[in-house]
Amino acid sequence: MKEYFQLIALAWENKKYRRRLRRLELEKLGGFTWYRGLMRVLQRTYRWRGAFALSRASRRKISLPESDLIYGETLPLTAYDLLTHIGIDHADHIVECGGGTSVFSLVAVSAFGCRATVLEIVPDFVKKTREVVARLGLNRLHVKQADMLVEPLPEGTLYYLTGTTFSDESWKTLQRQMAAAPVGATAISLSVQLDSKAWELKETLTLPYSWGENTVFIQKRI
Ligand SMILES: C[S@@+](CC[C@H](N)C(=O)[O-])C[C@H]1O[C@@H](n2cnc3c(N)ncnc32)[C@H](O)[C@@H]1O
Repeated sequence: MKEYFQLIALAWENKKYRRRLRRLELEKLGGFTWYRGLMRVLQRTYRWRGAFALSRASRRKISLPESDLIYGETLPLTAYDLLTHIGIDHADHIVECGGGTSVFSLVAVSAFGCRATVLEIVPDFVKKTREVVARLGLNRLHVKQADMLVEPLPEGTLYYLTGTTFSDESWKTLQRQMAAAPVGATAISLSVQLDSKAWELKETLTLPYSWGENTVFIQKRI
């Protein structure tokens, strides 16, 4: 019973935290046409079934460790601040490894005009992201239904890895997959660093995510 009340208190705290971030986001990005358009389309697309419910429902159908499919999301403001900090532009090609609603890539393409490829294993996320892309007319964003632990990763200039909850085995496999990244590419990984023999750590940041503050590692392929 005590645990139940602790869970309710945590959920309530998270709701307050997200509301505060949403206010900040509106203050900072609310004046941009691309942001208002993106939020309108995302709300419409996930109106009947939110991303968390969609991800939960997929767990029974996909044979990956359950922890790999725990859902959490990059907030649009975090994506915007991170991409601004790194200094990307239209010449960049982002590879988002496990996209969910693909907010990171959607912000990158809408606000910075770069190209993005999203790899996502859950078919419903792929379908919905394609709908969002079509509604916004973002022809530089490509979504592929793929298991990123098996399929070769495309060549990009910036890789985004949100493996916070991944099992050790999956994280090791993803690290091996990252050998395909060209020298000079940037990788942003949450919670866990990539192998320092192949990736030089440039910077460590702490940024807000849907679940709370998270460590973000920015690395360069050597
Ligand atoms: C924590 S969510 C992050 C989503 C997104 N990158 C973001 O930051 O908002 C991780 C996503 O990776 C997807 N995923 C997990 N394992 C995968 C795999 N082996 N191949 C492709 N996608 C995977 C999950 O379905 C989920 O949508």
